[in-house]
Amino acid sequence: MILFFRENQMKKYTRVTTNTLKEMKLNREKISMLTAYDFTTAKIIDKSEIDVILVGDSASNVIAGHETTLPITLDEIIYHAKCVIRAVKRALVVVDLPFGSYQGNSTKALESAIKIMKESEAHAVKMEGGEEISESVSRIIKSGIPVMGHLGLTPQSIYNFGTYSVRAKETKEANKLINDAKILEKNGCFSIVLEKVPSSLGKKVTKTLKVPTIGIGAGKHVDGQVLVTHDMLGMTQDFNPRFIRRYADLNKEISKACKNYIKDVKANKFPNENESY
Ligand code: KIV
Repeated sequence: MILFFRENQMKKYTRVTTNTLKEMKLNREKISMLTAYDFTTAKIIDKSEIDVILVGDSASNVIAGHETTLPITLDEIIYHAKCVIRAVKRALVVVDLPFGSYQGNSTKALESAIKIMKESEAHAVKMEGGEEISESVSRIIKSGIPVMGHLGLTPQSIYNFGTYSVRAKETKEANKLINDAKILEKNGCFSIVLEKVPSSLGKKVTKTLKVPTIGIGAGKHVDGQVLVTHDMLGMTQDFNPRFIRRYADLNKEISKACKNYIKDVKANKFPNENESY
């Protein structure tokens, strides 16, 4: 009954903005977010009424086939963002600042963020890190560009962590994460992604902040959820952390369709009369 009430309470947003997300947190309406890197997929996801589309640097893994997110370049992510933005009418489109385009230099960070916004016409950028990138975050926001933060398991620092295991299980790291989240909020971030942290920490950060938290492997007490679309559609097979729920098995479906197509071509059953001119 409560669920039914909540569903009816859900507002139909015509265009999702950073303010919409803050409003959703106040209204306790969960935020949905998925990745997209191309026009066709972005169009399907947007028409499904997703709230946020992330042009993630996970494109480095799922599109380009790299082992990590580190190799993707600023120009490459801008290309993906341009493809996505042409398809989107409703969702807020956030673009990852790639590794090497902002770390350690706030002037470079600002230039990279401006390049993304100018060339792709996206709506916001996302950056990994806390206190250490605070000057860059602050300069970018002061220039008028909305920033989404990203704490916990930050894949651009994977060689620093050494593994993709759960972050901030120990008190010291958890306290640093809470402090980083407060700094990002103070700097003006409109939302913060929490990746692969204990559910209890996700809850604590969510209660501490006024801006919405969006979790990936951060439990159910955060303000929203994000998944990599290729994972949740079951296209990827080798990546199996427990936080992924597969909503389809497209790997199997695509493979089946390809095999049927090959069979028909080999047997001269495709095209038929109706498919010919
Ligand atoms: O690049 C990405 O897809 C991300 C999500 C995992 C949050 O940063």
